[in-house]
Amino acid sequence: MLSFVLRDFIEYDPALRVRKPILKVPTLISEIVCYEPGQSTASHYHPVQDEIWVVLEGKGEISVGEERLAVEPTSMIFIPAGVRHGLTASANSRLVLLFIKSPGIPEAASLPLAGTAALPAATSPGQKLQLQVTDIQAEARDVIRIELRAPGNTELPAFEPGAHVAVELPNGLIRHYSLSNDWRERDRYVLGVARAPQSKGGAIFIHQALRCGMTLPVRAPRNGFPLDPSATQYLFLAGGIGITPILAMLRWCEANKRPWRLVYAVRSAQRAAFLETLGTIGGGSLHLHCDDRQSGVFDPVPWLSGAPQGEHVYCCGPAPMMAAVKAAASHRDPGTIHFEYFNAPSEEVAAFPEKKPFTIELRRSGRSFTVPADKSVLEILEQNGVPLVSYCREGTCRTCETGVCEGTVEHRDFCLTSQEHAAGNTMLVCVSRAKSERLVLDI
Ligand code: FES
Repeated sequence: MLSFVLRDFIEYDPALRVRKPILKVPTLISEIVCYEPGQSTASHYHPVQDEIWVVLEGKGEISVGEERLAVEPTSMIFIPAGVRHGLTASANSRLVLLFIKSPGIPEAASLPLAGTAALPAATSPGQKLQLQVTDIQAEARDVIRIELRAPGNTELPAFEPGAHVAVELPNGLIRHYSLSNDWRERDRYVLGVARAPQSKGGAIFIHQALRCGMTLPVRAPRNGFPLDPSATQYLFLAGGIGITPILAMLRWCEANKRPWRLVYAVRSAQRAAFLETLGTIGGGSLHLHCDDRQSGVFDPVPWLSGAPQGEHVYCCGPAPMMAAVKAAASHRDPGTIHFEYFNAPSEEVAAFPEKKPFTIELRRSGRSFTVPADKSVLEILEQNGVPLVSYCREGTCRTCETGVCEGTVEHRDFCLTSQEHAAGNTMLVCVSRAKSERLVLDI
């Protein structure tokens, strides 16, 4: 028998919620998480892992799917696999949470199947790591693969397929890159970086000046392109370096025995990165489209017409490809089509309605501000000393996601799902605005 005195594990940190392991056996993990007032666990989900949360002390609010619930000591919440959930401690109360779930990472061959390994819990978006460049390899023409590890090869924060990290480069630029390696690996992050003609300095620096042994500040993984585990099969459409998040998703499909089809569109075979890696992932079929061999760009229509019931589509690539896929998929259930943009598509940004002023109210402090037509909610918050973590500032990375308690959002982002847009209880404050005169934000 093992027994524990839970109060011995309670510890707070004003900078970040404190997470302490209590028990880790092959079939169960239990941890305590301690939140200072207002600290939170961002919304996330685990594709195959049920979870139980028990509140030991304090008050807060949890979100499970589209429901919100005030919690207090002795509240117990069951969170089924695949359902998004998050938690925020009340503004005037610390909170201590005990959670119990099956292990996120297979610990040994005795675990039944890699596919039953659940995705790990989300990490704190503000957490900054100092990672070392441990390997740089040419993958294809103008594409390199970069491996990052923690000093001493210590364990890295877990990530989900589709997640990205924000890398702070020595030239002052911050760039976010998808993680392409197996989500069960905890000792490294593998990125793919393409040098594009329109590079604004990030990719050029990485290609020309990054060297093994350099240390880079890297923000912990975030996932703006999560895989829906309820799909019965998957169609992946990758253009160029858009293959990187898809690689991690294919590994999840293989591990979980979900059938997949991949169309990988590149300008020429010399530019097709990660082909060797793709050849090692089973359980699906790869169609390589080379513009120069097939005399033209990839046409998604034949792939998207007559798609099987229950198939979800994931697309990541350059703007023209994304626009073609969006048009070809217009007849399909929008909840089954998922996009990750490299940048906000300028034609769609230009088509948004004219910006109008509105008021925001911050639920926890009661402060309110006017957002004029020429400023974003994020800018107004920053001007008034309410900083939020933000990377892209153009609605493509989901970092600045903020809960909405009241009011109607005018969504202008490119990463929330259509269901999330319809639910209206969250928004990306770097770009989205209000349809109503007032929004009450959950901060
Ligand atoms: S900062 Fe990237 S979505 Fe807002």
